[in-house]
Amino acid sequence: MPAMQITLTRPDDWHLHLRDGAALAAVAPYTAERFARAIIMPNLNPPVTTVADAEAYRQRIMQALPDHSDFNPLMTLYLTDRTRPAEITAAAEHPHVHAVKLYPAGATTHSDAGVTDINLAMPALEKMAELDIPLLVHGEVTRAEVDMFDREHVFIDEVLTPLLERLPRLRVVFEHITTAAAVEFVRDSDHRIGATITPQHLLYNRNALFSGGLRPHMFCLPVLKRERHRAALVEAATSGNPRFFLGTDSAPHPRHAKESACGCAGIFSAHCAIELYAEVFEHAGHLDRLEGFASHHGADFYGLPRNNDTLTLVRESWQPPATLPMGDETLVPLRADETVIWRIPREARVF
Ligand code: NCD
Ligand code: ZN
Repeated sequence: MPAMQITLTRPDDWHLHLRDGAALAAVAPYTAERFARAIIMPNLNPPVTTVADAEAYRQRIMQALPDHSDFNPLMTLYLTDRTRPAEITAAAEHPHVHAVKLYPAGATTHSDAGVTDINLAMPALEKMAELDIPLLVHGEVTRAEVDMFDREHVFIDEVLTPLLERLPRLRVVFEHITTAAAVEFVRDSDHRIGATITPQHLLYNRNALFSGGLRPHMFCLPVLKRERHRAALVEAATSGNPRFFLGTDSAPHPRHAKESACGCAGIFSAHCAIELYAEVFEHAGHLDRLEGFASHHGADFYGLPRNNDTLTLVRESWQPPATLPMGDETLVPLRADETVIWRIPREARVF
């Protein structure tokens, strides 16, 4: 009997880290063979803070892809305390810059140049509200005394709620949400807010960080939470609510940087991302709602056209390798040496 298949409007990834140089060339094809477009995170070192930086980075991404690739990188700027309103105006006029990312300083990988006090970024944020440029937020406070597992909830109360009261027209994407509190906030808000959800936060709870020993490859930020939060995320993603959409947060780090006394945050999932979301939707009994989450809601939120082509997934098990090349280094991908139950057809694969 032929394996079961599903065909979707080609999906997009609304939150992706591609890095630069040899790492970029190694990881970008995995996304390009699955997704038509991706929102590219600007947390390079140094960060992508100007439209000129974003355009140059976009060209490096295009050069890293095979000649025939029609993948479309959607660029973002990195908000700092000093981002000028004129840069926001330039972004609004640029065809390839689609959003601005807020990293609270110190929140995550390459966030040192991030915002130290949201009031300092207010001139840029006011211009974004005026010109309708979406603000993408890494929604965690960074104060040392706030418990690691409460940082998202505290961010909602201390930063996001006052920001939306001050700038009610600002369009916001609450990135990689991890808690029931964030689900409720996005679902019930009167503001123009959406949220991305990663495969790891849909599939794993915080026990995965400690199963049989410390698991650095399951460490990302925001960190995995309790089972009840995972369940709330699955409920939101599979509900059909257009405020929730796909964003992998695939974030490659070399193996040695994660298997370290101070391991980096970030999980690489680009090699099986849409496949893992299909698993989540199948287990929830809502495979019919995968297309909305993966291919429609994000484009609609960003005011971009939905894709015209399709992607087929086959219900067939396979095992991602133990490591993947990353320039001169290797990375350990999500589900390394374990089983993934959906796969993309052979002609679309890079391995
Ligand atoms: C991301 C990275 O490595 O760039 N890491 C992560 O754990 N998600 C940064 C981010 O999105 O926080
Ligand atoms: Zn990210």
